[in-house]
Amino acid sequence: RALVRPGALWTSIDVVEATGSTNSDLAARSDAAPGAVLVAEEQTSGRGRLERTWSAPARSGLFFSMLLKPGDEVPVERWGWLPLLAGVAVATGLARAAGVDTGLKWPNDLLVTVDGEERKAGGILAERTGSDAVVLGIGLNVSLRADELPVPGAGSLALAGAKSVDRDPLLRAVLRSIEQWYGDWRAAGGDPSASRLQETYAAGCVTLGREVRAELPGGRSLTGEALAVDGDGRLVIGTADGVREPVSAGDVVHLRP
Ligand code: BTN
Repeated sequence: RALVRPGALWTSIDVVEATGSTNSDLAARSDAAPGAVLVAEEQTSGRGRLERTWSAPARSGLFFSMLLKPGDEVPVERWGWLPLLAGVAVATGLARAAGVDTGLKWPNDLLVTVDGEERKAGGILAERTGSDAVVLGIGLNVSLRADELPVPGAGSLALAGAKSVDRDPLLRAVLRSIEQWYGDWRAAGGDPSASRLQETYAAGCVTLGREVRAELPGGRSLTGEALAVDGDGRLVIGTADGVREPVSAGDVVHLRP
C-alpha cells in the first residue's frame, strides 16, 4: 500500500505482516540505504531499551524502524540527540494528526494522560549499527482498549481520546514530522539549540522539575530534581547536597506525580 511517497529522506518504505523486531531486521540488512523504513503490523519479539521487551500485538499500533546516516554534517558526539529528536517529532506529529498531547519522559518514553494519570503509550529504541548508521525504532500503542493492554498500566492513543486511530495517516504524519526535525537538525550541524530541538524537547519533557531517581549503569542510583537537558541530551540532576550531575544512560523513575 502506498504510505508515503519516498521523498528527500525516505528512500523506501516496506510493510511486513509480522516479524520478530523491525530494529533487528533493519540492522541485519547491510544493503539498506539511509532513509529505509521498515514497518511491521505485528512484532513477535519486539525489543525496548535496557533489554526490555516491547509488546506489539497485530494491528494495534505503529511498530517501525528507520535507518539513518547523519553523515559528516553531524559530529558523532551529537548523535545522542537522535532518539530525543524522534520523541519530539513523534509528539509533534501526533498532536497534529491525532489531537493527543504526549509528554516526553526522559530520555524518550511517550506518555499520554488516561483518566488523569500518565501512562506510557510509546517508546523509542536507537541502536548504532556499523560505524556510520543508526537504526531508530518507534513503537506506539494506537488502538488498544483497556482490556487489550499487553502491559498493565500502559496507555494508548485510543485511551487518551485520540480523534483518529487510523494507523496509516498517523504513520504518514509521524514520518513527515521526523523528516522535518531531522532535516533541520542536520542542517544545523546537529546543534540542538540552533535547530530549536533542545528548547522544544525541554518544553515537552515531563521529567523536568520532578523529583527523580536515576538507576545508573553499574548499579549506582542518584536521587534529586531533574533540572535540565543539556547540550548533549543528558538529564542534569540536582542532588540534595547541591551537586549537578548529568546522566546519559540508564533508567529514570519519577518519584512524585
Ligand atoms: C522502549 O520503550 O524501551 C523502546 C520501545 C521501542 C519499540 C520499537 S517497535 C519497533 C522497533 N523494533 C523493536 O524491536 N523495537 C522498536
